[in-house]
Amino acid sequence: MAQTLPPTAQSIEKVVSFLTQGNIVAVPTETVYGLAGNAFDPKAIATIYSAKGRPDNNPLIVHVRSWEQLEEIAQITPKAKLLSEQFWPGPLSLILKKKDCIPDSVTAGMPTVAVRMPSHPVFRQLANNCPFPLAAPSANPFGYISPTSAQHVEQCLGNKIDLILDGGSSEAGIESTILSLADESKPSLLRLGVITREQLEDCLGESVEFSQRIESTANSLESPGLLSQHYSPTTPLTLFSGKAPNNTKANEAVVLLAQPSLVDNNTFHLSEKGKLEDIARNLYGMLHDLDQREFNKIHMECPQGDGIASAITDRMSRAATQG
Ligand code: TXA
Ligand code: MG
Repeated sequence: MAQTLPPTAQSIEKVVSFLTQGNIVAVPTETVYGLAGNAFDPKAIATIYSAKGRPDNNPLIVHVRSWEQLEEIAQITPKAKLLSEQFWPGPLSLILKKKDCIPDSVTAGMPTVAVRMPSHPVFRQLANNCPFPLAAPSANPFGYISPTSAQHVEQCLGNKIDLILDGGSSEAGIESTILSLADESKPSLLRLGVITREQLEDCLGESVEFSQRIESTANSLESPGLLSQHYSPTTPLTLFSGKAPNNTKANEAVVLLAQPSLVDNNTFHLSEKGKLEDIARNLYGMLHDLDQREFNKIHMECPQGDGIASAITDRMSRAATQG
């Protein structure tokens, strides 16, 4: 079991000293919980990969507290400036050319680094007290659902880590939008999130290509974490849109987007009124929760449309892809 620390000044001090010694700590962000280590310390980075069971060809996101810190580790381009001024602190990661101080293991040998400035108040307090930027992938074992609470981290990674900093439930609930500016002339969306393609296009005043690459091996991917099977619960999951299946068995769960008028023991809902932000916030918690129960199968309703709906559908589809 890991020790879960409340978000107090004393805890922050303890976490900073633990991180400074090269250890890793699960920390809250507004998207999902991250498994953080000193981004300048190859030993801490190696510990992150091994605790997650993550292949070392899958690079990490580096979290910064300020634009000064960003400048230390990456080349800030005009478009990066525009986007970060509009969306940071917040759930947008940018892929930029890296500087030499970032060890190759953080970026899996790539010349670029993923960077983001989280808005979560507890994370910000931590980052403001850390003398280094924090490399942090989502705090889940490789391939499993990302955690949106300290309890989720304990459930899925508690036997692999020592400390969890509790910052409550993550507000956004799904991982950050990732936009690559590796080629400044061709911004390319690598992962959908609550900051939508439309918002990015409005900010940049140009269209943004979505290069979703679904492949079965990590070797040739531009963003190797974006495999088709990812974020999956152990219980088999199938998706539907429109009418719920009416022939489900007693040991199968049905999850709807909005609260149904008739509630029974096997029917769950992701939001009260079908608001997309609420659905995104509650999705992983629902999957974690149902995975702890004895259901043989989960049937989940998926939303239709662009924007946040497409980010939610993306995560649901990955969760529903088995093996
Ligand atoms: O919301 C988030 O982004 C959370 C919180 C903790 O910040 N982090 C997160 O990290 O989701 P992770 O490691 O689970 O996902 C990061 C994704 C991976 O798919 C990885 O392949 C991609 O970002 N990535 C990282 N560095 C990259 C790079 N230089 N080029 C392309 N893709 C990169
Ligand atoms: Mg992840």
